[in-house]
Amino acid sequence: MVVTYLKQFLLLLVIFIVLCDVEVIKASHPVYKGYQSLETTLPKNQPYRTAFHFQPPRNWINDPNGPMVYKGIYHLFYQYNPKGAVWGNIVWAHATSSDLVNWEHRPVAISPIEPNLDVSGAWSGSATILQDGKPVILYTGVNSQNQQVQNIAFPKNLSDPYLIEWTKPLQKPIMAPTIQNQINSSSFRDPSTGWLGPDNVWRVVVGSKIRRRGVAILYKSRDFVHWSKVKKPLHSAQGNGMWECPAFYPVSIGSRDSVDTSKSSHDLNVKYVLKVSLDDIKHDYYTVGSYSYHTDTYTPNNGSIENGFSGLRYDYGKFYASKSFYDGEKNRRVLWGWVNESSSVNDDVKKGWSGVMALPRRVWLDKSGKQLHICPVQEIKKLRRDPVTLTNHVLQPTSLIQINNVTAAQADVEITFDGLDLSKAEIIDPSWISKPQMLCQEKGTSVRGSLGPFGLKVLASKGLEEYTSVFFRIFKNVQTNQNMVLMCSDQSRSSLDNDVDKSNYGTFVDVDPIQEKLLLRTLIDHSIVESFAAEGKASIIARAYPQLAIHRAAYLYAFNYGSQSVRISKLSAWSMKRAQITGKL
Ligand SMILES: *[C@@H]1O[C@H](CO)[C@@H](O)[C@H](O)[C@H]1NC(C)=O
Ligand SMILES: *[C@@H]1O[C@H](CO)[C@@H](O)[C@H](O)[C@H]1NC(C)=O
Ligand SMILES: *[C@@H]1O[C@H](CO)[C@@H](O)[C@H](O)[C@H]1NC(C)=O
Ligand SMILES: *[C@@H]1O[C@H](CO)[C@@H](O)[C@H](O)[C@H]1NC(C)=O
Ligand SMILES: *[C@@H]1O[C@H](CO)[C@@H](O)[C@H](O)[C@H]1NC(C)=O
Repeated sequence: MVVTYLKQFLLLLVIFIVLCDVEVIKASHPVYKGYQSLETTLPKNQPYRTAFHFQPPRNWINDPNGPMVYKGIYHLFYQYNPKGAVWGNIVWAHATSSDLVNWEHRPVAISPIEPNLDVSGAWSGSATILQDGKPVILYTGVNSQNQQVQNIAFPKNLSDPYLIEWTKPLQKPIMAPTIQNQINSSSFRDPSTGWLGPDNVWRVVVGSKIRRRGVAILYKSRDFVHWSKVKKPLHSAQGNGMWECPAFYPVSIGSRDSVDTSKSSHDLNVKYVLKVSLDDIKHDYYTVGSYSYHTDTYTPNNGSIENGFSGLRYDYGKFYASKSFYDGEKNRRVLWGWVNESSSVNDDVKKGWSGVMALPRRVWLDKSGKQLHICPVQEIKKLRRDPVTLTNHVLQPTSLIQINNVTAAQADVEITFDGLDLSKAEIIDPSWISKPQMLCQEKGTSVRGSLGPFGLKVLASKGLEEYTSVFFRIFKNVQTNQNMVLMCSDQSRSSLDNDVDKSNYGTFVDVDPIQEKLLLRTLIDHSIVESFAAEGKASIIARAYPQLAIHRAAYLYAFNYGSQSVRISKLSAWSMKRAQITGKL
């Protein structure tokens, strides 16, 4: 399996190198020399640009960086190529907002210019608010010797709530690989937000690896400027490969409210989350566990799986290199993630941009204590208008109903299903239990089941030549005598263009359909579809590039292709307004 994957990857790589002028791979991003510094005008026709997701007017973006709230203003920084729609020339671009919905672009905050610090790259990092309320940024620089080091940046003017200008007063990195510390200088990046212990000492983790072991290297400091590496990492896991963008934070037990990591040391009412972004497979997985300030180690809950294939993920579709922050204004944790394109590099260059940010999401611990809920922040609802509702509608076997009077290319849909005869659930083959994505690949929208597939067809063309479907399918596990709810996003018919990645995504959702109704929320924004099941117990982001189902020619349907009926107890759909994203980078 892994070997075939590797072979395919190598083959693709060779094709890329031949076709697209790739010269090097940096931190696993291919560099297309020929596509940098293009001064092209963007095509007018942009059916795939989003209306309420964050994206700059043009060019490549990747990881969100240093999100925070300062003096009531939300800040989002992100990895940006000022010179093209492919990765390269990365700077920290910056935008601010008062509501997480409408944004203003600000000048670039951090550029790679200092030989000792970052001349070969200003890569990802995080913001920390110090005890006195001052924000600082730690980020990875690539120095003139091509070593990954960690640097610090400060705002120039603390009275400016927009934090327009940043300075790098130190001439040296604050953390660097040395012979003594044995850190691999090519695998040392993405400092986390810092947290303060009861001993008044700051802690930060940096992503790394030792052979195949993913590692969150721990550093400590009294003043946030002088740091020393702690011998033992905060945590590590064998077989993971490189850990990018590690994040470590507390979540409250029994509440959606969150706590500041620096204030959690005496709080018995919290558990901790460690999230890592797996460079090898491009997924963000997390564990929930406990943390001891005495030993400075994190221990995942018994039974939690530590890999990106069967472990818990923030999202089971396209979502990578995420960063979250504690929003003290609203006592919540807010999460940002990067959503990559599924189109070809040539198409990205043609349309003049690549990458969007997922909607900001709120994160809280489920009452089971075993997993998170991750849902769009409530502010997104401000964009809803003209609701359309449908109640108590039975979807007979093999039925399709059109949801009218919604701008289906730019919409928010909530749907609650019930009325399931669970005695009719299909028995699951035990070999599928650990492979939900493959099960979604195998049993897509058009493979008839008993209870399901039922759900939504979005970004659909009038004649259904194109659609992306998001659906449930309910199984019975005879070993545990419990139902299993599969959630899928099927992209196989999402576009007539065959040059895009149409892989299906899927996961099991930890809900018991005997006890609870099945909730699905899907937000559709031209080329991105974000779906949430059971109030964010699972989510899937998909990209779609329809050729027919664009703008007013996009339609929305609810469907049932199971042999049993299912009832929509309520469906609400809203057309979505456009977010105001203004200003110049
Ligand atoms: C700092 O920011 C404040 C608020 O925007 C502004 O009034 C002041 O002129 C700035 N100071 C400097 C030195 O730029
Ligand atoms: C250091 O990391 C790089 C990049 O992943 C890898 O190619 C190299 O083998 C590593 N070196 C050692 C000594 O582990
Ligand atoms: C972890 O779970 C396993 C099986 O559920 C159990 O046998 C073991 O005792 C548990 N270990 C701890 C430390 O609780
Ligand atoms: C970006 O998308 C391409 C095509 O679907 C995929 O092969 C690649 O792994 C993705 N990268 C990330 C970081 O998600
Ligand atoms: C939906 O739109 C149609 C035609 O535009 C109109 O006749 C109908 O009254 C609308 N229905 C609702 C519920 O608004």
